[in-house]
Amino acid sequence: MLEQNIKKVLVSHDEIVVAAQQLGAQLTAEYEGKNPILVGILKGSIPFMAELIKHIDTHIELDFMLVSSYHGGTASSGVINIIKDLDKDVEGRHILFVEDIIDTGQTLKTLRDMFIERKAASVKIATLLDKPEGRTVEIEADYTCFTIPNEFVVGYGLDFDENYRNLPYVGVLKEEVYSN
Ligand code: IMP
Ligand code: MG
Repeated sequence: MLEQNIKKVLVSHDEIVVAAQQLGAQLTAEYEGKNPILVGILKGSIPFMAELIKHIDTHIELDFMLVSSYHGGTASSGVINIIKDLDKDVEGRHILFVEDIIDTGQTLKTLRDMFIERKAASVKIATLLDKPEGRTVEIEADYTCFTIPNEFVVGYGLDFDENYRNLPYVGVLKEEVYSN
């Protein structure tokens, strides 16, 4: 069982659903008539995206990007590699990035700047989790469901070595799991 490796639950499944309902209502009002593209960052955003869109009651489109970040020897370089880009031109379109977590902020800072360059009509960010203490570049999400302390978390899309993404809540791993 996955749960035996979890030290504590940080955000429960019920709390996530309530937050997604509230955010969905906000986004419905914000994007009415704008037909935005919700852009999920693979793979971590999948569970949050799936819950969130059920609560948005206006037309939206869905797309995904897969990026990998290069973290250099010292501080993160801020260079990200785009493995899967959007299929469409975004000029004049409203873009809402959907992420699992913002830590250093480098991924979303790079993507936001890139989409402004591509002449999107607007670029906003919705994140399930925010770890503000991890930030190395200046960026804030427009919509944050939960602000958490600087701990490594897994579940609801977040992985440790590609595992634990399927946990239905966000939790902290036991130390012995890392040291194995
Ligand atoms: P950053 O904001 O550019 O540092 O990148 C955020 C990405 O780092 C997220 O999409 C996650 O893939 C990963 N990440 C950051 N913190 C955690 C964590 O606590 N658990 C699992 N993945 C994390
Ligand atoms: Mg990720």
